[in-house]
Amino acid sequence: MFFVPLFLSNLNTKKIARKIEYIRTTGSTNKTIYDMWQNNEIHSGGALITDQQTEGKGRRGNQWISSTNKSLTFSFILNDEDEVLNNKISLISGIAIIDGIKKIANLDCQLKWPNDIMYKNKKLGGILIEKKEGVFIVGIGINVNDLDFEESIQNKACSIYSITSRNTQREPLLAFIFNSFENLLTKNMSEIVKKWESVCNHINTFVKFHHSNQIIEAEFAGLNKDGKAKIKINNTEKIFHSGIIEL
Ligand code: BTN
Repeated sequence: MFFVPLFLSNLNTKKIARKIEYIRTTGSTNKTIYDMWQNNEIHSGGALITDQQTEGKGRRGNQWISSTNKSLTFSFILNDEDEVLNNKISLISGIAIIDGIKKIANLDCQLKWPNDIMYKNKKLGGILIEKKEGVFIVGIGINVNDLDFEESIQNKACSIYSITSRNTQREPLLAFIFNSFENLLTKNMSEIVKKWESVCNHINTFVKFHHSNQIIEAEFAGLNKDGKAKIKINNTEKIFHSGIIEL
């Protein structure tokens, strides 16, 4: 059960998530919110949260598994306003989650490019941003009070509970994430890049970079002014907007 009044009492945004829909179960919040948007049932800034997601989508066509009532599983929708939002949206989504977790659980999580939420090299959350017909759909899954994980991800996943041994209320956590997100929307790219780099767990280190069916040992040298990754390969810096990093 997700208590919307408790969420709203912690929310201090003007536009983001002032309208939130809560449904007990759905296939994928990204898909459902898009259907709602197409039916004019939700507008830019609106959000959708569920307790149980049965067909969660991860990046690169992966499945996203979450635990009923324990994970935070939600999406929100934003008009694709300009090139700047295009560059910012993924970075500020990640930073807002880091901020929200810090505020509620006093836990320092980190980001793995492009936008995995990590704690000591285990994944705690993920972000799937889809761009369709003039809107961004930002879908976020965070392992909050999850106790155990499927065998296939047991060694790679963690939750706030598995780290702190304390239950965390999902309602204020979600509000803190939106509060930070809206605040970050007002920042310029150089501030955002600086903040993102300060919470990245592989800045200036050698990583295995997967791109176009190749794996390259390369140095992750941070982000450029547009938020794209700077990867140093044999001392030459190249810019990438997609790829996978293996630590
Ligand atoms: C990743 O692969 O790291 C991204 C995972 C994103 C999962 C979230 S859960 C809420 C939203 N609905 C989905 O179907 N996926 C995203």
